[in-house]
Amino acid sequence: GSSDVTVTLHADQPLGKVNPNIYGHFAEHLGRCIYEGIWVGEDSSIPNTRGIRNDVTAALREMNIPVLRWPGGCFADEYHWMDGIGPRDKRPALINTHWGGVVENNHFGTHEFLDLCEQIGAEPYVCGNVGSGSVQEMMNWVEYMTSDADSPMANLRRANGRDKPWKVPYFGVGNESWGCGGNMRPEYYADLYRRYSTFVKNYSGNRIFKIAGGANVADYNWTEVLMSRAGRLMHGLSLHHYTIPTGNWGRKGSATEFDEAIYHKTLSRTLFMDELVTKHSEIMDRHDPNKRVGMVIDEWGIWTDVEPGTNPGFLYQQNSIRDAIIAGLNFHIFHKHADRVSMANIAQTINVLQAMILTDKEKMLLTPTYHVFEMFSVHQGGTFLPLQIETPDYTVGDSSIPAVSASATRDADGEIHLSLVNTNPNQALRVTCSMNGAEAKNISGRVLTAPKFNSYNSFDAPETVKPTDFDGASLRGNQIEINLPSKAVVVLSLR
Ligand code: AHR
Repeated sequence: GSSDVTVTLHADQPLGKVNPNIYGHFAEHLGRCIYEGIWVGEDSSIPNTRGIRNDVTAALREMNIPVLRWPGGCFADEYHWMDGIGPRDKRPALINTHWGGVVENNHFGTHEFLDLCEQIGAEPYVCGNVGSGSVQEMMNWVEYMTSDADSPMANLRRANGRDKPWKVPYFGVGNESWGCGGNMRPEYYADLYRRYSTFVKNYSGNRIFKIAGGANVADYNWTEVLMSRAGRLMHGLSLHHYTIPTGNWGRKGSATEFDEAIYHKTLSRTLFMDELVTKHSEIMDRHDPNKRVGMVIDEWGIWTDVEPGTNPGFLYQQNSIRDAIIAGLNFHIFHKHADRVSMANIAQTINVLQAMILTDKEKMLLTPTYHVFEMFSVHQGGTFLPLQIETPDYTVGDSSIPAVSASATRDADGEIHLSLVNTNPNQALRVTCSMNGAEAKNISGRVLTAPKFNSYNSFDAPETVKPTDFDGASLRGNQIEINLPSKAVVVLSLR
């Protein structure tokens, strides 16, 4: 029969690589992300390896996290790393002023974080303190982690039980310096970036990709000032954009109780990422036409009201099929801009904002967002294959978004991975995809969908939203026919 959506896949016009780091993560000392979510301590009854929960590391390994950003966020600009090394019972505490005013005991510090990265096979992305820390403190931290010399900081690390230096490939010079990181003007931060980053050194063969703190959403002037005054001294420039369902920071909207109008509005707000990346890229292109400096979208995701009854400073929210669709749409945007976007880090990995994993004491569940990261991991490092799509809109009231979004990559073995998102919660759609310059004999796939557009996984019903094998796609020559279910994310693999 006739199709609702047509896709033309140009496998004969491959573009650049999708940097695996687009599938990166962010874990802050915030609420129950680090403490409880990752760190339970060596004496916990929850099975752990050197204090880090085994159930969580197993799930994170399965998802294939390329890079993990830590310790913040806002926390990074009040964190003093030397408080978080040495015997745990001797470490001084501090008050986490941004996130609930709770006491931070510093039991999870540099060694524990880098151990976590080794356990899950992720590269570390450490964010340094510009807001309330000194140049010397930042310089010493890099030496402590990465130097193999017979030097004061390297010897202090050895005294604390780690002989060999770690590799730390990514280092952020401050966070949100326009806000919680110091309320700076871009001109002032650009100067501080120049000064601090000068002392972020490469020791013992470690090569650091230095990331400057970038703009808040559509603050294009920030990008202009940073690129013109400090662009040549950075490897990456960050960008933060959160999807707020209502658009109102005071009442953001519930993670699970929403109507179709808010569902639609949320997706249309998340699609603003495309315009943001395009416009920031245009500014970067003017200063850096060879695209040497990467755009690092190191905080993104949906930010809703907290779950009723939980600490408002802990940012604990549920996660529904709406979140899964948000993840899919953003990945498609990042792929499209893969020539500039070199990393993205969803906020945040566990128990905070758009999380992959929720924990309740010894229990753990995987969210719909987790499943999209796991399903899409086949795109990591693939070659981007451009496509054209003709899709009907999904309309609610006077607002319309494209019903279907799609993206394709080819992996090192020649396999093509085509992901599709149907935002429409009421209508399955027939998709016909023609491939130029590719033929396949076998097709297989998985689908993530749910009974309702606000379905989620709870500790009572942890598998309401989980991927299943997809039998709605068939292959005829170089043409694929797909029956795309409503409110669904599908990943097809073609051999
Ligand atoms: O991810 C939560 C917070 O959002 C981060 O700490 C901060 O950088 C941003 O404002």
